[in-house]
Amino acid sequence: MRRSTPETWDDLLAKHGEVLACFGAATDNYWSSGEKQWADVVAPRLALPESPVVMEWGAGSGRLARAALPHVGQLWAYEPADAVRALLAENLAAAARTSLPDDRPGTVAVVIGPEELPLVLPQTLDALYCIFVMHHMDYDALWEFFGFAQERLKPGGVLVYDYINIESKAGASFLARKDRSEWPIYIWHESQLLSLVERRAPRLQLLQVVVGVRDIHVWKATDETP
Ligand SMILES: C[S@@+](CC[C@H](N)C(=O)[O-])C[C@H]1O[C@@H](n2cnc3c(N)ncnc32)[C@H](O)[C@@H]1O
Repeated sequence: MRRSTPETWDDLLAKHGEVLACFGAATDNYWSSGEKQWADVVAPRLALPESPVVMEWGAGSGRLARAALPHVGQLWAYEPADAVRALLAENLAAAARTSLPDDRPGTVAVVIGPEELPLVLPQTLDALYCIFVMHHMDYDALWEFFGFAQERLKPGGVLVYDYINIESKAGASFLARKDRSEWPIYIWHESQLLSLVERRAPRLQLLQVVVGVRDIHVWKATDETP
């Protein structure tokens, strides 16, 4: 397991600050922030094979999914909120019409909600990623998510997620904010996530922890299904 050198808060904000404000609403830099985050943060950690089957958990209106599409064989885009999912389907259909490279004519994007999760069969995913979502996930939602990873990742498949670590500057700043919305926000402690994965997803081995504005964990599924 490799623990990366922490970047400073200011470095990270300068690099990725614009993407912290993504929530469905399309701002001027909404799509470009997805391209940048896919290329800089997500894709390098997924170690994707040829024509991979990839899933985004909590895809919103497709900011990252749209950037992922040209690089995958099949994309499962899971979004639980109905209105957001409708927008996601529209955005991915438009992207499939306009931005797929000629050498990927068979790329498939499938937008799903909670009822369709069983369509994703056991050990079929090369990668599962979940970005800017965990602060919406309570303990039960995390339990479901890690159980899904345990079951659906292929041997060697990779899981990447980010979260606001309560021990980090972002976590402390977030707790101190006076302008917090009424929306519940979950700020996890690293040890909570690690012990949850140990219990719920014992196939996963921790590969990397990236310390930043949002910490990132990278896991790899082993062959065994305990
Ligand atoms: C800030 S958006 C991020 C969207 C996308 N991942 C991105 O980076 O642009 C958070 C999304 O997570 C979804 N969400 C909330 N709770 C969730 C859960 N338990 N499981 C999956 N997605 C969830 C919300 O509906 C929303 O679309």
